Amino acid sequence: MRLPRFVAPAGTVLRGSDLLGWLRGAGTGHAALDGLEAAFRARYGRRHVFFLSSGRAGMTILLRALAERAPGRSEVAVPGYTCYSVAASAVRAGLTVRPLDVAPAAMDIAPEARDSLDPARTLALVATSLYGLPAALPAHETWARQHDVALVDDAAQCLDGQVGGRWSGTFGDAGLFSFDKGKNITALQGGVVTCDDDELADRLARHFRAMPAPGAGTVAAQSLQLLAYTVLLRPWLYWLPNRLLRLGETPFELEYPTTRFAPSLAALVGRQFARIDAITGSRVAHAARLRAGLAGAPGLLIPGDPSARNVHPRFAIVFADGVRRDATLARLVDGGIGATGSYPLALRDVPGLAPYLAADTADTPRARAVARGLLTLPTHGHVTDRDLAAMVTLITRP
Ligand SMILES: Cc1ncc(COP(=O)(O)O)c(C=O)c1O
Repeated sequence: MRLPRFVAPAGTVLRGSDLLGWLRGAGTGHAALDGLEAAFRARYGRRHVFFLSSGRAGMTILLRALAERAPGRSEVAVPGYTCYSVAASAVRAGLTVRPLDVAPAAMDIAPEARDSLDPARTLALVATSLYGLPAALPAHETWARQHDVALVDDAAQCLDGQVGGRWSGTFGDAGLFSFDKGKNITALQGGVVTCDDDELADRLARHFRAMPAPGAGTVAAQSLQLLAYTVLLRPWLYWLPNRLLRLGETPFELEYPTTRFAPSLAALVGRQFARIDAITGSRVAHAARLRAGLAGAPGLLIPGDPSARNVHPRFAIVFADGVRRDATLARLVDGGIGATGSYPLALRDVPGLAPYLAADTADTPRARAVARGLLTLPTHGHVTDRDLAAMVTLITRP
């Protein structure tokens, strides 16, 4: 029997040597975690790093720490189209969410929406650099400084990106990274908060110390999942999890564990981090092929600033016409390509979030248009030249 080939929507190829190194080093996890923390500090030049169970856990304690510093400010301004986890973290921190309309070509908060914020109510502006496309971080940083609003540089999807010669995740008051599935490097879980400011770091440390370590059972289950993920990410096996599990969906969920990072996973993240240039380089090369093949296609926007170091954990395109997006998505999936429609709704339209939105939240029509038109394509190391050519053909076919 010939197995159906299916290219996973996103992922990071883990080598046998990664797994062996990980398993060999599992008993000395704390040393590996110390080494990983030092590697992050060295590469990104931030003094403080906190490794937690997820980006959500990190964002939750970060927003709590920022709120302690600025009593009376209760709103977190976020892009109107972004990962629902960002909004969920603000809600978990006891704050109100204000989605801002977006500039689709930049896949970022529209400058005029940011400029319309009331700084007296705004605790933090969160830039999210979706799909590895760094947000306009220099401009957001200037605005945030001028208005005494905290800027959170959420690089969960943009680990190793750069804009204006500076690393994504290092702008503003604090940065965030994630090792969840679909991120530039992965252990299926894990997140990092970074900052330079000692006073903020002290606050973060207090929250961090109050967090439990992950339970042994959880870590064992996560390790098994990670092994399964490594094997099943291969295109000739991916049809199995693809049929059995609802992978790739990100529902709006307020319940998630907030623990520290499992030290036994540190060696695996560390091995990937040691070759981050190669991992990013392969994604960038795949993205360049897609960009060249799709450039000029009518009714199609390829977002992002080509002069930035975009890292493309997935390659995002936006159709002007939602019906065409749906038809193209179906065609790609039928053709064995793990294309996705990403987050199906703008934040303003997510039913579970409605009670937590700022009462006078403005409409976000461009965020809604992005939700209707967005399509992501895989860029990971199992994607072949033939897959890239097939993606271009299936998308541009009349
Ligand atoms: C922009 C953004 N921020 C934060 C998060 C939360 O990260 P995690 O999944 O590790 O909780 C995500 C996750 O997908 C994300 O995409």
